[in-house]
Amino acid sequence: MTFPLEDPTLPFGPDAIRAASAVILDGGIVAVPTETVYGLAADATAAEAVARIYAAKGRPSFNPLIVHVLDLAAALALADFDDDALALARAFWPGPLTLVRPVKAGAGIASLVTAGLDTIAIRVPRHRAMQALLAETGRPLAAPSANASGGISPTRAAHVRASLGPGVPILDDGATEAGLESTIVTGRTILRPGPVTAAMLAAVLGDVEQGPEAPAIVTAPGQLASHYAPRKPLRLNVTEEAEDEWLIGFGAVRGQDSLSERGDPVEAAARLFDALHRADASDRARLAVAPIPADGIGEAINDRLRRAATR
Ligand code: TXA
Ligand code: MG
Repeated sequence: MTFPLEDPTLPFGPDAIRAASAVILDGGIVAVPTETVYGLAADATAAEAVARIYAAKGRPSFNPLIVHVLDLAAALALADFDDDALALARAFWPGPLTLVRPVKAGAGIASLVTAGLDTIAIRVPRHRAMQALLAETGRPLAAPSANASGGISPTRAAHVRASLGPGVPILDDGATEAGLESTIVTGRTILRPGPVTAAMLAAVLGDVEQGPEAPAIVTAPGQLASHYAPRKPLRLNVTEEAEDEWLIGFGAVRGQDSLSERGDPVEAAARLFDALHRADASDRARLAVAPIPADGIGEAINDRLRRAATR
């Protein structure tokens, strides 16, 4: 079974899970329900697949994404857990709780998922469709809510179709249960309120604090600590580098490195954070980046580059 070309929607079932898994393992994206909202899932270890999420959502910037895993053991392979985090995981997983933890070196998660951060947002979902897809693919799945950027989070397949258009494959398993995105916690701080309430968290941890109000949580990498902004000065829209500059090329502009020699913005998005890290680590004092077309996912690339160039 494969997703039909016209209205690529399949009702939940073993064949649909195999079809969705094939799409994911091929580097594609699939909308899939969780107990909170429908997510737009991609293989979190495949940078270009993750870039397709941003392209489909039309996100003007790269927010770090939540990574979904099958169980606590899979989470422990990707991130470091302290005693508090372990207690929360044991109490609320599988379920609508996301933990922000230091990402393990060599975890293999695409840097576009974490937006270059050294932490990762991770959760074990409870919904049978997302669980089945995680089991079938054997991959950690990055999944933001399956709506166009700025839109309302989808709780039904029809919402996803209306928001993301005719091309996105959807695994339809009816309305979601919570209808509200997962609670996000780092340490003992609530970054985003959600179905797991402060009282429920406090019952496990003793006490918790409410973090900054929702808009103040990480909505764009530029709002985060400076540790993943490049250390070196960065010049934009450069077609020819100065002697002390490491030029990150695109398309016809060849530099020391290239975001995409074939001028593909999805490939460029997938490579962006790695390229910035490589450039920062190079033996040249300054960084430069070729012009990137500003339409589609290029808007997010340019947003990130503008932030990286502002110091
Ligand atoms: O219920 C949910 O959590 C849904 C379903 C699909 O699982 N997913 C979801 O993902 O709401 P998204 O991408 O819409 O929200 C992810 C939030 C963002 O606000 C982002 O700022 C935060 O998680 N986030 C991700 N990684 C982070 C990190 N390393 N540190 C702090 N915040 C992080
Ligand atoms: Mg969202």
